[in-house]
Amino acid sequence: MSNQQLNTRFGVIGTGRITRRLVADLQSTENVEVTAIASRTLERARWYADQYGIASAVEGYEALLQREDVDAVYISLPPSMHSEWAIAAAEQGLHVLCEKPLALSADQAIAIDTVCQERDVRWLDATGWLHHPRTDSFRDWISDGRLGDIGHVSAAVSFYQPFQSDDHRLDASLGGGCVLDLGWYACGLVRFACNGLPLEVSADVVIREGVPQRLTAMFWMAGGVTATISCGYDTATRKWFEVAGSTASLICDDFTRPWAERPTRCWIHEASGQVEGHTFQGSQERVMIARLVGEQSLAKWQKIALDTHLILDAINASIASNGSRVPVRQVIQ
Ligand SMILES: NC(=O)c1ccc[n+]([C@@H]2O[C@H](COP(=O)([O-])OP(=O)(O)OC[C@H]3O[C@@H](n4cnc5c(N)ncnc54)[C@H](OP(=O)(O)O)[C@@H]3O)[C@@H](O)[C@H]2O)c1
Repeated sequence: MSNQQLNTRFGVIGTGRITRRLVADLQSTENVEVTAIASRTLERARWYADQYGIASAVEGYEALLQREDVDAVYISLPPSMHSEWAIAAAEQGLHVLCEKPLALSADQAIAIDTVCQERDVRWLDATGWLHHPRTDSFRDWISDGRLGDIGHVSAAVSFYQPFQSDDHRLDASLGGGCVLDLGWYACGLVRFACNGLPLEVSADVVIREGVPQRLTAMFWMAGGVTATISCGYDTATRKWFEVAGSTASLICDDFTRPWAERPTRCWIHEASGQVEGHTFQGSQERVMIARLVGEQSLAKWQKIALDTHLILDAINASIASNGSRVPVRQVIQ
């Protein structure tokens, strides 16, 4: 996508809470620059452009897609708007970095992937943890026998009452609620750790203020492996997982994003009680952005995103049938 001479020029769509952090990551990634930011109102776009040091403020998202100085977009809108704007960007020949969840459903996610393939543009969902160098070590330990045979995976992702005024997370029509917001991370972790899709899922939610605010789910994999997840807005911050094997467990307490001011860390707990600690360096977001604008195939990360939507679809189907054990669609086509 880029070469030594030309930067990839990003336009930012939306001015939400997460935008500031990702814009800083874009601006500090080699061969990348941010040339424009679009908001529904010019006033808001101008305010954020000035705040972030972005040259152009744009009124309306469509106008941003038409600009000559944009090669790629970063979409940080509520989930219900992701597929519409990712597809619109791809149809303009722009590469896409889209906030998580990629879409509302597997079908929407597949539509994004299809249009991007047709238009020969690259896409990633902005799920940073998959790109942290630490995640390569997770993969090695899980697959090289360091933990023995994997028996169970558990993940917990929560924030206690994180809402601000007019928060899209409390608006079901915008894709709010913890299933897509936090379940995205936990289901993605299960998909990653098991290197495949669950066969069946059972899920339960607690609804408050019209959206799911607590999700508990169980997964059944091939070979007898099981997984459980707990997500919600009613317990203190948790972003951890355990991958339990026959000889040791891999434990991480900050997998979605390392704790501020602390080393990026994880542990292997042996059956004997011996603990092996590991720490890591690196910015997961800058690696993610570099991959998007690089030449390497993105297929393995795209597959995790599409599979995560298949799991979330099954979770929603189970919720709709009062927690029944439902099959997970296995094939994307
Ligand atoms: N990767 C991460 O670590 C991470 C962390 C937090 C959030 N996220 C994801 O990032 C996305 C945005 O989250 P956020 O918390 O930044 O959202 P937010 O603060 O609610 O901002 C969303 C932006 O979308 C635009 N928008 C357009 N139509 C809207 C509508 N009807 N209602 C509300 N906003 C509308 C607004 O920008 P304008 O008014 O300027 O057009 C608004 O600023 C979500 O998908 C979320 O899951 C990711």
